[in-house]
Amino acid sequence: MRVPAALTPGRAKPARALVTGCAGFIGSHLTEALLRDGVEVIGVDCFNANYGRHQKLANLHHALDWRVFEFVPLDLAIGELDDLVREVDVVFHLAAEPGVRSSWGPRFQRYVTNNVVATHQLLRSLETLPGRRLVYASSSSIYGQAEAMPTGEDARPAPLSPYGLTKLTGEHLCNIYHANHGLEVVSLRYFTVFGPRQRPDMAFNIFCRAALEGAPIEIYGDGHQTRDFTFVEDVVAATRAAAVAPIDAGGAYNIGGGLRASLRGVIAAIEEVSGRTFDVSFGAEQPGDVRDTGADTAKAREHLGFDPRTSLLDGIAAEFEWLRDAGGVAAPAPQ
Ligand code: NAD
Ligand code: UGA
Repeated sequence: MRVPAALTPGRAKPARALVTGCAGFIGSHLTEALLRDGVEVIGVDCFNANYGRHQKLANLHHALDWRVFEFVPLDLAIGELDDLVREVDVVFHLAAEPGVRSSWGPRFQRYVTNNVVATHQLLRSLETLPGRRLVYASSSSIYGQAEAMPTGEDARPAPLSPYGLTKLTGEHLCNIYHANHGLEVVSLRYFTVFGPRQRPDMAFNIFCRAALEGAPIEIYGDGHQTRDFTFVEDVVAATRAAAVAPIDAGGAYNIGGGLRASLRGVIAAIEEVSGRTFDVSFGAEQPGDVRDTGADTAKAREHLGFDPRTSLLDGIAAEFEWLRDAGGVAAPAPQ
């Protein structure tokens, strides 16, 4: 592990934060956690078309009850951001076009716009305003087929999907603004996040809905691929810590839950939680999907106090209950 010569000093709890992607899965949980802790939040989202507007509105529902929450419907790639960033101490940049398997073909343009151009616009607006810290939501997908398991932050980045390429480009852009303009930036590489409000294109959501509907499921490949799954509340805790802790500015931290499991293991766990037995078929491996992920989280544990607590079964139960109670709100939108 590379240990930086000196960490950038810690900061006081922010009075005001900007959360981009505040209507999304992780961004909406982060927004509520900040509000509950007395932080005023400006939330930006453009309701892009990766899934239904109705789910994103439902995600925002609780935050909108707070008087100190201001929602700004804005597309970061084209909007004017200077006035917004001027008002805050910290920016949590979660807005993005997510998803590995859908990043091919004509949709790649959306990844370039929402992950690269939007990130650049945000960085430009911060360039002239020293003193803010930017926490960038990066991804385990920047590693590609990991060269070591568990994977440390110093592993060679080699994305296998166009999505991973755009997330790595976002990291590079952050670091370019750090090196040239002294911006205090830090990248958090989240590993497959799950829990209530998970995106409808992700495996746990698809499988839990199938359990509720008695529908068949398809596994891409042999089902022995593994992921280091991470419960959303643990991701939120790490993200908030990155705003105040002494950090390796310009560096990156792995945020993985330590819940490494195969897809077959996940399916067995969802069967246990739901009491249903799946009708499973096996399809082709999908382009861009890596075989395994596994995070070495020593650096995040040391610097950010990262200490993921939620078990796979408890996290699946929370997601399953949310889907059951949401009554179809989480169905995917036509693309
Ligand atoms: P999400 O799609 O639920 O949330 C992203 C939000 O960003 C959406 O509400 C979308 O409308 C908004 N958005 C997109 N482009 C925008 C733009 N140009 N302007 C304003 N808003 C825009 O996705 P998520 O799963 O919550 O992911 C959040 C972040 O975490 C993303 O940066 C993603 O790459 C990263 N990440 C997610 C996971 C995961 O497992 N979910 C893992 C690794 C990294
Ligand atoms: C997830 C997120 O979707 C990305 O946005 C994120 O950047 C990435 O994690 C990350 O960690 O960086 P992924 O690991 O592909 O990507 O998560 P899922 O969509 O939940 O898929 C997990 C596994 O289930 C994959 O192997 C996928 O091929 C498989 N799967 C998914 C199926 O076998 N069947 C399905 O119907 C859906």
